[in-house]
Amino acid sequence: MSIGIVGGTGPAGSALALRLASIGHQVLLGSREPDKSVSLVSDLVGSQAGMKLDLVGASNEMAASCDIVVVATPWDSMGKAISPFLHLLEGKIVISMANALSRVGGELQATIPARGSAAQTLQASIPGAMVVAALHHLPAKELGELGTPLDADVLVCSDHRSAATAVIELISGIPGVRCFDAGSLSQAGPIEAMTAVLINLNIRYKTRCAIRITGIKQ
Ligand SMILES: NC(=O)c1ccc[n+]([C@@H]2O[C@H](COP(=O)([O-])OP(=O)(O)OC[C@H]3O[C@@H](n4cnc5c(N)ncnc54)[C@H](OP(=O)(O)O)[C@@H]3O)[C@@H](O)[C@H]2O)c1
Repeated sequence: MSIGIVGGTGPAGSALALRLASIGHQVLLGSREPDKSVSLVSDLVGSQAGMKLDLVGASNEMAASCDIVVVATPWDSMGKAISPFLHLLEGKIVISMANALSRVGGELQATIPARGSAAQTLQASIPGAMVVAALHHLPAKELGELGTPLDADVLVCSDHRSAATAVIELISGIPGVRCFDAGSLSQAGPIEAMTAVLINLNIRYKTRCAIRITGIKQ
């Protein structure tokens, strides 16, 4: 299964690309500027001496041609980022990892888009795709540190159960991560909003925290 990451050159997309490639997936890291993604992939692969990684720098459009597509741009750029190749996303699983946040004074706060979340906004712009919201709370730095298993849970939600199941299976392959089905895409708003709380905890306690759910036996 190939995975394409639109906006893959940021900290979140590049860390996810590296992590997914490290567990055996074929990953295309996309950018508006393919030269940038090719150079970044060369650095990422070079930093993992001796590891065989099927990771390629590409245009966003090439990334959108993959079996599963992750949109890893800022939330207010998602629509613009995918607009040139909407037809490529028809019928596909599209993962939304964006958090709808805005800076208010010195603090990042949750913003509620008109449709309730960045993920629901994305789903409305590609009604023929199966949008799955996931990965919001994973800190990019830890995600990209391949030598260390993560210590985090991922909450997944979607209006498409088969797509949610496939994404749970994909993400559960990341060492140290448990993945839970949190329900329909209407849960994406509170999941995205919680990231503002985690970021403020990070600032106050000078750390990078994630979440763990208790009470569910797996
Ligand atoms: N950082 C984290 O720890 C973290 C964790 C979980 C989830 N997230 C979420 O994941 C997403 C990506 O986070 P990030 O920190 O990696 O973001 P970022 O660095 O701000 O942006 C990621 C990439 O998006 C592309 N992009 C930026 N503005 C764009 C625009 N106007 N139109 C099209 N493409 C644009 C850029 O790629 P090119 O210039 O190469 O095209 C950029 O490298 C965000 O929505 C964030 O909320 C982040």
